[in-house]
Amino acid sequence: MNTTNEAAPDGDWMIEATDLVKRYGTFEALNGMTLRVGRGEIFGFLGPNGAGKTTTIRILTGLLQPTSGRARIGGHDLATDPLAARAIMSFIPDTPYLYEKLTAREYIHFVAGLYKTPPDIAARRMEELLEVFELADRADDLIEGYSHGMRQKTVMIAALVHDPQVLFLDEPTVGLDPRSAKLMRDVYRQLAARGATIFLSTHILEIAERMCDRIGIVQNGKLIALGTMDELRRLAAQNTSLEDIFLELTGGAAFAEIARVLA
Ligand SMILES: Nc1ncnc2c1ncn2[C@@H]1O[C@H](COP(=O)(O)OP(=O)(O)OP(=O)(O)O)[C@@H](O)[C@H]1O
Ligand SMILES: [Mg+2]
Repeated sequence: MNTTNEAAPDGDWMIEATDLVKRYGTFEALNGMTLRVGRGEIFGFLGPNGAGKTTTIRILTGLLQPTSGRARIGGHDLATDPLAARAIMSFIPDTPYLYEKLTAREYIHFVAGLYKTPPDIAARRMEELLEVFELADRADDLIEGYSHGMRQKTVMIAALVHDPQVLFLDEPTVGLDPRSAKLMRDVYRQLAARGATIFLSTHILEIAERMCDRIGIVQNGKLIALGTMDELRRLAAQNTSLEDIFLELTGGAAFAEIARVLA
């Protein structure tokens, strides 16, 4: 199995996880997560519920301490140089926290300030992104009155205003309408084309298949496969769709069991 697949020239790794372990009591949520993502790559992180995707992302974004192992962003070690690592990244969590009593413009402005983005640059980028995500005409309303999708767009814009070099997204399209989801995909492609590194976890295999340069499949806290779509296809030689590959690698036994129980 190829889990050392390398796509970037040496020295240009923007995300490096080395042998990450995370224990809760005796339970190992991660047991040796190792992966590297290069500059300009869109990396898809797949795996069954509870596999360890969010745990990995929370460690890589500095929100959670690993029990052991090392995480680096743009060469900055999260244990010894967390501020430098966090300054060049953004994270869009699966359940974002927003300040209900702010408007989108106020919230985005606040986040830009945390990253010390020069105010004129922040204001220009914010207005451009509000237009792109079609939120401009509601951006002075309080967030408490926003729909789910509007909240997600607000979080995305706030994450993009400081022009991060590395962007983490945990299930980014949940609840977005098809048009907004496509918009989001187009934005991420453009960011990657400009050299940003994008790391996204998703259960929507079509997104991974269509968008990602490489895909990693996680199960029981470690990578069980890593590669381009073509490489994953070769790994599961008789299958063609990512769904088939995913199910074969992660779910074959469970599905046989369901069929037996329902028979
Ligand atoms: N604070 C915690 N205490 C105990 N166990 C935890 C804690 N956080 C996560 N876990 C466990 O770690 C494992 C991995 O969880 P994680 O949230 O990383 O999964 P995931 O791959 O993101 O799943 P999903 O697809 O459902 O989002 C799960 O078994 C979860 O119950
Ligand atoms: Mg998760």
